[in-house]
Amino acid sequence: MLTTEQIQQIEQSSLPGAIQLVADLFPGKVVFSSSLGQEDQVITAAICKNKIGVEIFTLDTGRLFYETYELIERTNARYKTNLKIYFPDATDVEAFTRAKGMNSFYESVENRKECCHIRKVKPLNRALEGAKVWITGLRAEQSDNRKDMPMIEWDEQRQLYKFNPLINWSYDEMIAYINEHNVPYNTLHDKGFISIGCAPCTRAIEPGEDVRAGRWWWEASQKECGLHSTVGKEKIG
Ligand code: ADX
Ligand code: SF4
Repeated sequence: MLTTEQIQQIEQSSLPGAIQLVADLFPGKVVFSSSLGQEDQVITAAICKNKIGVEIFTLDTGRLFYETYELIERTNARYKTNLKIYFPDATDVEAFTRAKGMNSFYESVENRKECCHIRKVKPLNRALEGAKVWITGLRAEQSDNRKDMPMIEWDEQRQLYKFNPLINWSYDEMIAYINEHNVPYNTLHDKGFISIGCAPCTRAIEPGEDVRAGRWWWEASQKECGLHSTVGKEKIG
């Protein structure tokens, strides 16, 4: 387990410094989940430019935007890396779509949660097998659910540390980093998209709207897909 001193040291380090510290403490056991969002691109840049030993993976739900796939390729080329892609289980997707159709997530919250569970949560569980630290691009500013999250915390259910190095970064700091380091980003951000997930479940937002207003916009409930809830399927969303 990490000591209070080690946690403080991580919290007080620069972005690459903090990731390097964690990678040194848990060699070969640190993985980073990238959705290719702006936060994640900042972290990918920090990992790749400093050649830190952290595996970067993406959950390809099968429903991502064309622009996101194109960004995976641009990111791999720019940083001479190879994001590890995880797919959902084919049998799960076949059974789900045969039973409920291609776009059943618009019909009920239950269907939406089931789709997210099959396409995101189960592949995430596979990607995290054997890991001791899971790095994410969560920022406190993004939502009420995220505002009190610590930078690093023990996840009892998953038996690993969840490390959110950008938790205290503002949107403006993130954009400044992207511009300063010429970090590749999703071209949809130039078309009014802020938070980007699957294509059928993400829309552009209007100026002044909440940054997550474009995610599952037809739902009034909490805008989470279950990746960052602490227990299993029944609590997703
Ligand atoms: S979500 O829960 O609403 O979908 P969001 O898009 O804000 O999450 O992303 C928050 C963090 O979750 C990202 O920084 C990333 O670490 C992880 N994440 C979300 N979607 C994916 C994905 N498709 N592949 C890998 N990681 C993801
Ligand atoms: Fe399915 Fe939409 Fe969830 Fe993607 S965001 S996994 S398409 S419900």
